[in-house]
Amino acid sequence: MPLVAHTPSPSIPAHVAIIMDGNGRWAKQRGLPRLEGHRRGAKAVRTTLTAAFEAGVKFLTLYAFSVENWNRPQDEVGGLMRLLNYFLRHELKTLQKNKIALRTIGRVEALPADVRRELAATIKATAHHKERTLVLALNYGARSEIAGAARAYAADVASGKQKNDGASASWENFSRYLDTGAQGIPDPDLVIRTSGETRISNFLLMQSAYAEFIFTPVLWPDFGKDELLACLAEYGRRERRFGLTGEQVKVLDSGLRTPDLGDGDRDAGRQT
Ligand code: FPP
Repeated sequence: MPLVAHTPSPSIPAHVAIIMDGNGRWAKQRGLPRLEGHRRGAKAVRTTLTAAFEAGVKFLTLYAFSVENWNRPQDEVGGLMRLLNYFLRHELKTLQKNKIALRTIGRVEALPADVRRELAATIKATAHHKERTLVLALNYGARSEIAGAARAYAADVASGKQKNDGASASWENFSRYLDTGAQGIPDPDLVIRTSGETRISNFLLMQSAYAEFIFTPVLWPDFGKDELLACLAEYGRRERRFGLTGEQVKVLDSGLRTPDLGDGDRDAGRQT
């Protein structure tokens, strides 16, 4: 069995995930309230989603509200929720026109009722679109997602729905219990973080195991089509190896053969 089911990396990533950071600093630099930064951040969301799908991206995941964000000042949390509601009500037309389905990851059941209603309506109204998907990470945290998946997996083992043997305890089986896997959302190929911070901040920890990362100093409200295209171009220059050597990747990309690399597990040993 080959070590990795290798497929040549297309130059446009199928799934781009973004940690939108820097709204507060953008506002502070201009002497504006933080919420104004978030408002401008919402505009950047609109521009980025159009540009990403136009470029051929199939899945765009945006980290819009983390489980830790509840600890921000109440007026900021309230403002973010209102902004989200406004965005959902006004962007439905754009989603429909561009055939984009909306999905969410995270514990959305804890969001305010009006946001939940708007989310449910938008998800339902766009569910028939299969080509492009916008995923909003809301009240999301990878650790809580993983803990929830482990609980659900254990419950299925206990009820006999999942076999409790070595072969079944695979990443493929387990990953179906994550918020992403449960909805058929693939792992991100490219993770972008704006604002110069170089952290992953509890975002898609397991799903980004083989993702390419780009950290840009641009603050999120200033992130636009040009910045996105620059990130996509940088991604196109990267060589994704999935644990193979550069030479093996070249052979595989040329479609010549699949090397037999032994019976290794994709998760075992050092991968790059
Ligand atoms: C991080 O910047 C950003 C957030 C916590 C919220 C992201 C929200 C938006 C972009 C707008 C609303 C979203 C949608 C989908 C309509 P920060 O406030 O931590 O910035 P800072 O680090 O400079 O303070």
